[in-house]
Amino acid sequence: MKYLLSLSKQNLKLSLFEALELLDVKKYELNENFLVVDINDKNKARKDTFEKSKSTKDTPKKEILNIFKRLAYTNYVDEVLFESSLKDLVGKIKLFNWQEHYSTNFCVRTINIEHENEKKYAGIIWNKLKAPKVNLTTPKTLFVFVKADAKIYATKLLWKNPKTFLKRKAHLRPALHPSSLDPRLAKACVNIAVGMKDIATAVKNKDKIKGAEVKDNRSKTTAKITMKTSAEITVLDPFCGSGGILIEAGLMGFNIVGCDIDKEMLIRAKTNLRHYKIKKFSLELHDALKLNRQVDAIVTDIPYGLNTKPVDIDKLLKQFLKKAYLYTKQMIIAFPSTIKYRKLLGKWKLKKEFEYYIHKSLTKRIILVGR
Ligand SMILES: C[S@@+](CC[C@H](N)C(=O)[O-])C[C@H]1O[C@@H](n2cnc3c(N)ncnc32)[C@H](O)[C@@H]1O
Repeated sequence: MKYLLSLSKQNLKLSLFEALELLDVKKYELNENFLVVDINDKNKARKDTFEKSKSTKDTPKKEILNIFKRLAYTNYVDEVLFESSLKDLVGKIKLFNWQEHYSTNFCVRTINIEHENEKKYAGIIWNKLKAPKVNLTTPKTLFVFVKADAKIYATKLLWKNPKTFLKRKAHLRPALHPSSLDPRLAKACVNIAVGMKDIATAVKNKDKIKGAEVKDNRSKTTAKITMKTSAEITVLDPFCGSGGILIEAGLMGFNIVGCDIDKEMLIRAKTNLRHYKIKKFSLELHDALKLNRQVDAIVTDIPYGLNTKPVDIDKLLKQFLKKAYLYTKQMIIAFPSTIKYRKLLGKWKLKKEFEYYIHKSLTKRIILVGR
């Protein structure tokens, strides 16, 4: 099944990487800000798991939908019904079985195609439906024709991002602190650090099993894949401040641990986490360099305050990177873009980096490091 994701243009590199990491796809088409992926390209373990869930024409596979719902920098996701050139489009609309994809009522929208075509396409579709009803404001079925470069995608809306993270911006939280990461960015960082491939890692049995049975090609035996649920994955922010990253990871259901050397910050984090009804969390008062537990992923934003000299940040980053290597396999870390970080990486391999503009005197660099 092909899906079209409308990526946020706010930071296209970040939007694309978040989607690819979370969906764990390698092959894709990107036309402008429209990403088209074929979920059947997935690895065997994931495919088997998806295919176990029954789906009908009206209820897309729940698992896939649940993954899409985690995305921060995707504005909406459509199911691709067919592809066409502009020249062949009307002919293809006339031939297509719209009834199979229709429920209750419908509306047609066009993107990058002249607006008056909406009525024309809707008219043809209307004639192809058994008992059509139109709903222009809250349609149950929204057919969208998207033109991206020379291609037209005929699609059906599957999920629209409710952007609830906007309500969690730092100034709207009960315990405010200006150093907190933007919630949309924090959510994307968690998604990148803990992509679906990490949740649905194909590992031989023994541990807790939540997944489907799959054939293990090397041993020719049937092994079980360990589908770790979110609650079994621990995400740590060792410089947690007032809890911006922890809130997003907590709302996604991960087991969250935060630490900070400032007690006041931990009090703020606790107030904020409780405000968002996150019940299970662990907050620890200690230096991040005293890290002493294994975690699935670290997502963090190192201190960059006015009182911290750049040379101290370099030293702290270097020492922290060295320490963290002992306790996790994957880490996403943000720091001011002025830091020359490559020489500080030690054994870590750089997987991806982004720049993220905060304000005129601060741009952050965000790096994903792994083994
Ligand atoms: C940029 S803020 C973190 C913001 C947080 N990630 C958020 O989104 O809300 C950095 C935090 O690191 C803490 N900190 C500074 N040095 C530390 C250290 N050595 N160990 C642990 N925390 C430290 C500061 O008290 C501050 O709260």
